[in-house]
Amino acid sequence: MMLPIIRTLHLSKSFNNNAVLKDVSLEIPEKSVCAIIGQSGTGKSVLFKTIMGMISPDKGKVWFKDTELTALKTNDLISMRKRFGYSFQNAALFDSMTIGENLAFPLQEVLHITDRREIQKQVAELLDWIELPGIAAKRPDELSGGMRKRVGVARSLIMRPEVLFFDEPTTGLDPVLSETINNLVVRVNRELGITCVMITHDIPAAFRIADKIAFLDQGYIIAEGSSSEVAASGHQLVRDFIRISFSESPV
Ligand SMILES: Nc1ncnc2c1ncn2[C@@H]1O[C@H](COP(=O)(O)OP(=O)(O)O)[C@@H](O)[C@H]1O
Ligand SMILES: [Mg+2]
Repeated sequence: MMLPIIRTLHLSKSFNNNAVLKDVSLEIPEKSVCAIIGQSGTGKSVLFKTIMGMISPDKGKVWFKDTELTALKTNDLISMRKRFGYSFQNAALFDSMTIGENLAFPLQEVLHITDRREIQKQVAELLDWIELPGIAAKRPDELSGGMRKRVGVARSLIMRPEVLFFDEPTTGLDPVLSETINNLVVRVNRELGITCVMITHDIPAAFRIADKIAFLDQGYIIAEGSSSEVAASGHQLVRDFIRISFSESPV
């Protein structure tokens, strides 16, 4: 395994009296696909936001490579965050803009690129890469849900992040579309060399595509490692999760 690109150490976070993260130490290997799994409401999204610096922890540290994010001033954190991309479940495209304008937006607003040809070139390359060439002039409501989802991933790729966070990218999608999105995550990882961290309820997909799985429960990581290591966990909740996820049979 390569060195971790992200490390958390003893993270804790409470909201009023609700202790959500109690002691979370996690290493995300560089250029891996890492899946965060666990019950709903257990703090997976809070962990994501804490890693990205959108929530500050009560205790504990977050590193990105050699930089301790939790020690940075706001301005430095904002510039570090450009190296992360995130694709949230309900991250909507701007309906009033074309697909091309949606993708160009971060280039113009964040990277301050003004050369229109350069912008068009990058947008076209990315649309080719997600296998939706020629849709730059369309508007989001002219696309299917699955196409919009892929454009959403493309928008988070346009800044060429080193790490891409996906919060439940397949929740609410039909099985065929879920497969398309899971395969897109694998392509982002393999073809672009981007570390992908994914919260998912699709346990079979996590076991199939993740290099590392971390199971979060009640503020702690109760199992972590490769799919076979997590499958061998002695923890009852982990065993139940896996048994139920893999035992669905149509007959
Ligand atoms: N900004 C917030 N303020 C107060 N409570 C929050 C906030 N964000 C999350 N929580 C609480 O933290 C807990 C974990 O939420 P979340 O991380 O969204 O769970 P999940 O594992 O489903 O992603 C929930 O009890 C939620 O109500
Ligand atoms: Mg969540």
